[in-house]
Amino acid sequence: MPPTVAIAEVFGDVADVELFPEEQAVIAVAIEGRRREFTTGRHCAHLALSRLGLPRTPLLPGPSRAPMWPPGIVGSITHCEGYRAAAVAHAQDIGSVGIDAEPNQPLPEGVARLVVFDDDYTVPAGYGVHADRLLFCCKEAVYKAWYPLTGRWLGFEDVRVRIEELRFTAKLKVPGPILDGVEVTGFTGRWIARDRLILAAVVVG
Ligand SMILES: CC(C)(COP(=O)(O)OP(=O)(O)OC[C@H]1O[C@@H](n2cnc3c(N)ncnc32)[C@H](O)[C@@H]1OP(=O)(O)O)[C@@H](O)C(=O)NCCC(=O)NCCS
Repeated sequence: MPPTVAIAEVFGDVADVELFPEEQAVIAVAIEGRRREFTTGRHCAHLALSRLGLPRTPLLPGPSRAPMWPPGIVGSITHCEGYRAAAVAHAQDIGSVGIDAEPNQPLPEGVARLVVFDDDYTVPAGYGVHADRLLFCCKEAVYKAWYPLTGRWLGFEDVRVRIEELRFTAKLKVPGPILDGVEVTGFTGRWIARDRLILAAVVVG
């Protein structure tokens, strides 16, 4: 991440996180696992925002589930078993950001064919990474950066990803958002596989 992006990450969950009542209401009837991931994800988001010098404020989901960040802020949240993280930045510095974490395990039966396409990627040898899950992770990070810019759905088939050493590029097969008068035709990102996790991050602008 560039230094203008503030990050907070946690391996596991944090006890005694204080959520705003409005945030608590979001998970009032959720199952335990969902309560834990939402709570620690919000903890990371609040921590990351404080690193940008912003005051605490409720972070509620929008209609699409994407977090509604304070005005002038872009950001992204991810959580998977054993890991939760948030990344935020001032919109004047960064156009959009998307992060995703996945267990470094093969995708479940039948999912890979919905995500992986023949012309999608080259597999880096020697990284101990499950290539289909890595591709999935990169595409989810792309979607999280894409959605706040467009408010539109983006399918796995709408993007082709090329994976290189710790980096990736994602080429759009559909019209992209216009940023500063120029159409975005693709995204670039970084990935890492460590501690049984795969992490991917996309920064736009
Ligand atoms: C939204 C989605 C990307 C979330 O990814 P995930 O691996 O299931 O879950 P993660 O834990 O990593 O991320 C969940 C967080 O993403 C964020 N999120 C949810 N919807 C979002 C959206 N439309 N845009 C941006 N962020 C979103 C939320 O912060 C959510 O956590 P919260 O509900 O606790 O606030 C995924 O569920 C999805 O719908 N994918 C299909 C679309 C897609 O990925 N297309 C690929 C195109 S290349």
